[in-house]
Amino acid sequence: MVIAVDGPAAAGKGTLARRLAAHLGLAYLDTGLLYRATGRRVLDSAADPADAAAAEAAARGLTPADLARGDLRGPEADRAASAVAAQPAVRAALLDWQRDFGRTHGAVLDGRDIGTVVFPDARVKLFVTASAEERARRRWLEQGGTGDREAVLAALVARDAQDAARAVAPMKPAEDATLIDTTELDADAAFARALAVVEARLR
Ligand code: DC
Repeated sequence: MVIAVDGPAAAGKGTLARRLAAHLGLAYLDTGLLYRATGRRVLDSAADPADAAAAEAAARGLTPADLARGDLRGPEADRAASAVAAQPAVRAALLDWQRDFGRTHGAVLDGRDIGTVVFPDARVKLFVTASAEERARRRWLEQGGTGDREAVLAALVARDAQDAARAVAPMKPAEDATLIDTTELDADAAFARALAVVEARLR
């Protein structure tokens, strides 16, 4: 069984997907990590994340150790991930790996295109959103709550725009996805909502 959890940055989909996986006894895959690690490898090689050849080589050479790195978060990693993710060759390089993971384990995967491209036949599809202001507030708090909040909001809005506007596998809800808006929900309430959707689908 595969459960797809898509949505924009800092909407709470990672927390939600991880909890669903633990509750249901499924594996969990944060697919954003694949793009983050790819972006980080390109930065390491002193190339531009928008350089298609460099980005494809980085995606094809990914190892488990790359996914365990400690420097995959933060504004620079965010931008590099979104830039490599816009490239068709990068997405193609990572597609089979994600599909194999889901098929082998049964899994909850979170990302941007899980319900639309990676697993269009997923048993359950959730699209988790929240207002841009609330998502920026959460990201700002994650970063210690001391930085420039407006800059966090601007970076988040720019990344979502890039992820939604790209030609290949843009971020968008699958037609059969259930929307969960977490603007007014804490993690427990979002989880309860998601679990109710899952149970209704599996009935
Ligand atoms: O979920 P995240 O913020 O860690 O994702 C980082 C970037 O990777 C995001 O800006 C878009 C890209 N991404 C994607 O294009 N497709 C996915 N399935 C997951 C992430």
